[in-house]
Amino acid sequence: MNRRYRKTIIAGNWKMNKTLTETKAFAEEFKPLLNRPRWCDVVLCVPFVNLQAAIRLFKDSKVSIAAENCHYESSGAYTGEVSAEMLKDIGVKYVIIGHSERRQYYNETDFTVNKKVRAALDAGLRPIICVGESLEQRELGVTMELIAYQVKCALSGVSAEKVRHVVFAYEPIWAIGTGKTATSQEAQDVCEFIRSIIRKLYGARVARAVTIQYGGSMNPKNAFELLGQPDVDGGLIGGASLKPDQFMEIINAANQD
Ligand code: 13P
Repeated sequence: MNRRYRKTIIAGNWKMNKTLTETKAFAEEFKPLLNRPRWCDVVLCVPFVNLQAAIRLFKDSKVSIAAENCHYESSGAYTGEVSAEMLKDIGVKYVIIGHSERRQYYNETDFTVNKKVRAALDAGLRPIICVGESLEQRELGVTMELIAYQVKCALSGVSAEKVRHVVFAYEPIWAIGTGKTATSQEAQDVCEFIRSIIRKLYGARVARAVTIQYGGSMNPKNAFELLGQPDVDGGLIGGASLKPDQFMEIINAANQD
């Protein structure tokens, strides 16, 4: 983290978890825990059907609500899809773009990621862009090439003015839901590398202002060390964000000097 130049953002990604009833129960348990001063922003990414309820439930608690995906067109004949404008209109602040699960199961490509990033920014949403390598790619030694490619594709056509609203999440696929976390050094190396790509594209001032998260089996035990790395500006947390006490412990880990 480097709070002098950029925001630390702790975001929970609920994926396809929690009914409306469970969302209300989470809010009831979680909100009283949010009483300490916080040095980080807190975001909850919830399924589409629970967005409006979550926005209502967290209205006075400085928790921003995010969607987990959006379409790249603003309207039209796309049955079953939701546009960035629709999300913005109900009060959504962030949207996850290009999560590896969407790349893997729903044919999300670097090309569609780019279109979605631009659509989100045009609508006034902050995209949380996920990048990360598979175990095979890491073992082949092409992690940095792949990350550079994903970052450049995602940002193609994005102005320096708009890139300030972008958040990156480095999520190595082999660490997602596996209990196997990247070491803090591995996370730092890739997050620093992502910043270097942004620096080449937009210059040092822009690069140092961009929040770059780590995601992949982050939990109360490893959060402190991961967040202590200079270029790891937060976390995108799956499993551990489903439990109010665990998610709160990770938020507290961001309150370090
Ligand atoms: P886990 O924290 O469950 O590994 O999930 C990480 C993730 O995919 C967040 O987007």
